Amino acid sequence: MSKRIVLTIIGLAILIIVFLMETNGVYNVNSNSEAEVDYVIGVSQPNLVEPWQISMYEELQKEASQYSNIRMIYTDAALSTEQQMEDIHTLQEYDIDLLIVSVEDSQEMTPIISSVYEDTPVIVLGRGVEGYNYTLYIGTDHYLIGEMAAEATRELLGDNGGEIIEVQGLKSALQAEERSRGFRERIDEWDTLKISNTLVANWQRDKAEDELKKLFKSSNVNPDLVYAHNDAMALGVYRALDSLGLKEIKIIGSDGVDKPNGGLQLVKQNIIDTTFITPTGGKQAMLYAVRILAKDTEIPKKIILRNHEVNDDNVDSYLAEKSDSPDIVSSDEKVTLGFAQVGNESAWRSANTDSIIKAAEQENVDLQLKNANNNQERQIEIIRGFIEQEVDVIGFSPMVEHGWEEVLAEAKAAGIPVILSDREIKVEDDSLWTTFIGSDFVEEGRRAAQWVVDHQKASQEKVNIIELEGTKNSAPAVDRKQGFNEEIENEQNLQVIDSLSGDFTLEKGREMMEYALLKYSTKIDVVYAHNDDMAMGAIEAIEQYGLRPGVDIKVISIDATNKAFKALSTGKLNFAVECNPLLGPQIMQAAKELKNGQEIPVKIITSEETFTQDEAKKEMKKRNY
Ligand code: AHR
Repeated sequence: MSKRIVLTIIGLAILIIVFLMETNGVYNVNSNSEAEVDYVIGVSQPNLVEPWQISMYEELQKEASQYSNIRMIYTDAALSTEQQMEDIHTLQEYDIDLLIVSVEDSQEMTPIISSVYEDTPVIVLGRGVEGYNYTLYIGTDHYLIGEMAAEATRELLGDNGGEIIEVQGLKSALQAEERSRGFRERIDEWDTLKISNTLVANWQRDKAEDELKKLFKSSNVNPDLVYAHNDAMALGVYRALDSLGLKEIKIIGSDGVDKPNGGLQLVKQNIIDTTFITPTGGKQAMLYAVRILAKDTEIPKKIILRNHEVNDDNVDSYLAEKSDSPDIVSSDEKVTLGFAQVGNESAWRSANTDSIIKAAEQENVDLQLKNANNNQERQIEIIRGFIEQEVDVIGFSPMVEHGWEEVLAEAKAAGIPVILSDREIKVEDDSLWTTFIGSDFVEEGRRAAQWVVDHQKASQEKVNIIELEGTKNSAPAVDRKQGFNEEIENEQNLQVIDSLSGDFTLEKGREMMEYALLKYSTKIDVVYAHNDDMAMGAIEAIEQYGLRPGVDIKVISIDATNKAFKALSTGKLNFAVECNPLLGPQIMQAAKELKNGQEIPVKIITSEETFTQDEAKKEMKKRNY
């Protein structure tokens, strides 16, 4: 049966269900029933009560209406996780081509989302799930929202500080856990601030109101501020306090939707003091859904959208901005991008540089590319040169995490936006850069360790690991170490006996491995190299020493360039974790959007895989760098 006929039948079936379930409004379908439909997208939302979820629904609908070849089927779980699971099963029965899902309970929903992902692309929207079993996550950094709420608390309570009540979303929701952790870790830094009570109100206004009233009745609480994880609950908090005649207690919410009872209106009406605009990502979800369905291979794994703090000082400008802002029109003016590449240390880096050059040509970007030869001072000089030259956008792959404040403040003062490519930095003021495009290095470290854990668990003896680290104080070296250690922490038989810096190069990797073999001889069981080049150097040293890499000493590495694929296929390397160097297209897109004055995500995290020896043999031909 053709897809079109099937869709017509589905359309009729859904309309009947809509009719039957009128009171719940559980099913809804967009109006492209007459058009030639190529794809069906299922949308599963946990409720359509919260203004933020309503806003997401409206954004999705608005974007979807631009595509006549796409039919959307929307489901609303009406606050029930069980219902949401059922909705997803129903959507699967309708043979959807892609699922967009926003969850309330991440723990409970993770297994079903993983199972859909086995044969259907899944975009997780706004609220994350556990693990990586989905195509793309679009949402905000919930830990950061918690930290921002703590900063706002400190501002609102001033030097005297005070007592705080925290009203959390759902206990088993990842986003509530992250907001809470960010908030508490920051609050703990100040002696004057104390969280006296915690309530859980499942993101719901009425529950927040009831729980707070109960708390006041049952105990002697005297808060100065209430931080609610969303604006709906913040409104509930206000109602409870108002009914108790408590007018002075400050309230912080989160979401910042511009609707009746949404955060912006609540701040405007002085019902709450602060909110954080938390984009729903509906628009981006549709744009990426279309790209995924068109089999675009450059889909990132995570897109982290930007939050904005709104309070009495700036609420009017946000409201004015929202109502006045016309749609952004792309300009055809050529963008000049100054890119300060870190060096030429590895095969990964060459592929990264090639990707940037090629993407600039394809996108007609005027690329000024300079190489710092792994010298931070040189990289700073290059950036200064770009500022003098008045380029439109600066991009760079920071050699190390620290020491960028001064030069980036100069770029900010000159009004030049900065893109961090491949490596992140640590600066007090995050407004010094606009976006980070690259990998999750901590996760790469975890993946490498997971292989060791899985393959050495049975060993009765101690498993001795040599770690070959990348450039000292660089983000990949710091994070890959952290991720690896996190994963082996509780494994009694695994121990890193030495960590040696190989600076991401083959020569240094070989040198360090020669040193390790002299020192530990046959006691070494595993080499964990932070990149392929150092792993190749280690393999040479092991062979030179008369041992068999991959057999006598297991070798695992990060990058998965074609060097690693060859070594995997000949059995000298045991496992490779991918680090994707093909960042050029994303960088060019960001540079163009910045030139157009568009707001772009804070982070774009690339999608990556892992490769065993068998997988490498199959995939080898596809790897052309
Ligand atoms: O920052 C990415 C790392 O830098 C790569 O994994 C390594 O090979 C490179 O040189």
